[in-house]
Amino acid sequence: MSGKHDPRQIRLPDREALAAAVAILRDGGLVAVPTETVYGLAARADRTDAVAAIYRAKGRPDFNPLIVHVRDADHAETIALFDERARALAGAFWPGALTMVLPLRADAAIAPAVTAGLPSIALRCPAHPVMRQILDDSGLALAAPSANRSGGVSPTRAEHVAASLGDRVPLILDGGDCTAGIESTIVALRNNGTWQVLRPGPIDREALAAVLGSAPAAAVSEDIEAPGQLASHYAPGKPVRLNSSSAANDEFLIGFGPVAGDVSLSPSGDLAEAAGRLYACLHHAAAARQPRIAVAPVPDSGIGAAINDRLARAAA
Ligand code: TXA
Ligand code: MG
Repeated sequence: MSGKHDPRQIRLPDREALAAAVAILRDGGLVAVPTETVYGLAARADRTDAVAAIYRAKGRPDFNPLIVHVRDADHAETIALFDERARALAGAFWPGALTMVLPLRADAAIAPAVTAGLPSIALRCPAHPVMRQILDDSGLALAAPSANRSGGVSPTRAEHVAASLGDRVPLILDGGDCTAGIESTIVALRNNGTWQVLRPGPIDREALAAVLGSAPAAAVSEDIEAPGQLASHYAPGKPVRLNSSSAANDEFLIGFGPVAGDVSLSPSGDLAEAAGRLYACLHHAAAARQPRIAVAPVPDSGIGAAINDRLARAAA
C-alpha cells in the first residue's frame, strides 16, 4: 500500500466534514463512507450521472446492480414494495447488515443504472452512526458498493479506500475499522412466498429463518439474480491456498484459532472477530513479501459461511 495521500482526502467525520460530504453528494459527486460492514462508495441513487461516476471510479466493466442505502424502513417503502415478511425482517435487523431484494416501485426515484434494468432493487438501512447521519442530513437514498477498484479486496479502513481508489474519490470519511467487516447478507423474498440468501453475510440463515418462520428454498442458479457475485471478486492479486494448517516457504499464512500464522483472523477462534479482520488480513497478505497466501481452515457455522464464501472467491 502506498503511503502518500492528500491529507484533505481522509477526514474525521466532524460537523464540517459531514457538511462537505452532504454537499458533494447533493451535487451528484462521490464520497467514501464508513458502514458497519465495509466502506462504501456513495452517490445519490436518483441521478444517472452520479451513479455512472461510481462505475467509473471502481472501473467496473459492466453494470451490476447496486445496493441502495436508506435511512429507515419508511424511506425504503417509498422505493420498493414491502410485504409482511419484508416488514418483519426490517423490524428485526434494521438498522444493520441485512440487504433485501424487493420489487421496485414504479414511481421510485431511482436511476435505471442502479438496478441494471431489473424489476427488483436491493435495499439496506445501515447501522453505522456516520452513514446514518449522512442519510439523515442529505435526505437522499445512496447507492454504495464497496469502495475499492473492481475485483479487489473490500476496504474495512479509510486507508484501504485511499490505497485502492486514490484520487478517484475526493472525500473519504474516516469512521474507524468496520465492526462486522464483511458485506451485508443479501436475502431475496420471492413472490411465491419462498426466500433465498443471495450472498451470505453477518446475519446468518438461521437468524433469518427464525424471523421468517420457514427454511430457505433450495438453491437454483443465482446467475441472473446476483449478477455481481463473480468468483473473481475479492482477489488479493496473489494465489490463495485454503484450508492450510502450515505455510510453505514462499507463503504468507493467515491463521485462525490454533493455526498461528503470520497474522491471525482470530487467535481465540472467534468467528465474529475473524469476519471483522478478514479483509484487513487479506490487505496485509497482499502487501507482504511472500508471493503466495495460505489460509487456515475456518469452520463453516454461522458467519463462518460468509467468511468461507469470501475466501473461496479470493482463491478463485
Ligand atoms: O455491506 C454491503 O452491502 C456494502 C456496504 C457498502 O453497504 N455494499 C455492497 O454493495 O456490497 P454492492 O452494491 O457491491 O452489492 C451489490 C450486490 C450485487 O453484486 C448483487 O449481487 C446484489 O447486490 N444486488 C443488487 N441489486 C440486486 C437485485 N436487484 N437483485 C439481486 N441482487 C442484487
Ligand atoms: Mg465489492
